[in-house]
Amino acid sequence: MRFKRKNKLATKLGFLFLTSIILLEGILFVVLYFGFLNQRVMVETDSLIARGNSHRDVLEKHFDEATRGHVALMESEAETQVVITDATNKILDHSNPITTEIKSIIHSVDQTTVDGRIVEGDWVRAPYVSTMSPVKINGDPVGYVYMFLDTEGIRDIRDKLTVQFIIVTGLALFLTVITIIYLSRIITKPLIHMKEATQKMSNGEHDVYLIEDRNDELGELARAIQTLSNDLLRLKNERSDFLASISHELRTPLTYLNGYADIAKRDNLTSEERNRYLTIIKEESGNLTNLVKDLFDMAKMDQKGFLIEREKIELCSLINQVREKVMPAFENKEINLFTSCQKEIIITLDPERFSQVLLNLLDNALHYSEKGKSVRIEAIQVKKNLQVEVIDEGEGIPKKDLPYIFGRLYRVDKSRSRKYGGSGLGLSITKEIIEKHEGTISATSEVGKGTTIKIVIPGVE
Ligand SMILES: Nc1ncnc2c1ncn2[C@@H]1O[C@H](COP(=O)(O)OP(=O)(O)OP(=O)(O)O)[C@@H](O)[C@H]1O
Ligand SMILES: [Mg+2]
Repeated sequence: MRFKRKNKLATKLGFLFLTSIILLEGILFVVLYFGFLNQRVMVETDSLIARGNSHRDVLEKHFDEATRGHVALMESEAETQVVITDATNKILDHSNPITTEIKSIIHSVDQTTVDGRIVEGDWVRAPYVSTMSPVKINGDPVGYVYMFLDTEGIRDIRDKLTVQFIIVTGLALFLTVITIIYLSRIITKPLIHMKEATQKMSNGEHDVYLIEDRNDELGELARAIQTLSNDLLRLKNERSDFLASISHELRTPLTYLNGYADIAKRDNLTSEERNRYLTIIKEESGNLTNLVKDLFDMAKMDQKGFLIEREKIELCSLINQVREKVMPAFENKEINLFTSCQKEIIITLDPERFSQVLLNLLDNALHYSEKGKSVRIEAIQVKKNLQVEVIDEGEGIPKKDLPYIFGRLYRVDKSRSRKYGGSGLGLSITKEIIEKHEGTISATSEVGKGTTIKIVIPGVE
């Protein structure tokens, strides 16, 4: 049962192969058999008639013994045979010994109806193909010239063809068996390995190893499945790491909340002290709300439910709106915010998501810069792309951390970022939004001098 199931595909292909070979061979056989053999018989018969007629022409001039003997002698050297009879069909001369078959053919001819032509054309059954040409002098038949061609040669060819057909059929059957075995080795087996691997994967096992050094489509498929398995394993690991970090992220503010709530409950506190603790509680719960909101955003992105709703917008006014929104916070921290925007950049993007990107970047620039520094937003069009840079003069990011800042929950200085409630999700959300816009985001930074985040997205009109 297992073997049968295993080789279904190979057997199907094998039989397809067999059918095509037999079909091809059959067509070839029919063409050769009917085409070639019949053609050959026709040519031979025509030449037989021509030969008989030419003998007849000679005999019509001289129907004497010497000429008849001459004709018979000429024919004795050829493959064909001649028999000359008189008007009553009595044999007068012949080139080769007369066989009973020749006699019976001559006797079966009705001279009154046959006026020179083929008298026996059945090369399959009759021993001879035969023609007859009447010798007429002054309109009256004085004799007949019969020509005979042995059909054995043609039948021989036919028999050889039949034998060859049988041999080729046998060979095709043999080749089919070989093909089925070969196909099951090179196609079915790897397919079964892959099927088993995918089943293993769906059961949650990820130690899938498909070693395929083939260069064909099956090799590609095996490599694709291997990549898929590796990716699944990586995602699984990432997910558990992520969950571990998330639970840590949630536990820390909750611990604060718990602790400060306990303190705030004490009776011996002045109302000023109680207010301070309640403020901390409020701040922490605010941070927690933000974190949960970010997490929710990210979950939506993972589910592909995070849709980008593009519309045509004028970029500078969008930047100005964002600027208005953040201005109070910048003024509060005494940080200058400059925007420079090339006029009239019309671009198709999701304005809400893009504002979120700018807010995240400005939020970072604000939080990681000292009082009195400046932050600049520069937007220009480069070919059909929009390029936006957010440049700050803040603390900068160490080289070793730079590759990781777009990762989830990654923070350079855990304690400092925590101070204002940063969770390390801002840039990873930003990056996902930009990638949904088919764009790229990159960072350059120098510790103590500042950071530049550069975004490039296509879609400028
Ligand atoms: N402009 C910047 N200057 C210096 N460091 C930065 C800057 N932007 C990001 N970083 C570093 O990269 C880390 C990741 O930034 P990200 O915005 O993802 O998280 P976050 O700001 O800590 O938290 P949040 O999720 O609230 O944005 C930050 O913690 C910070 O260490
Ligand atoms: Mg941030």
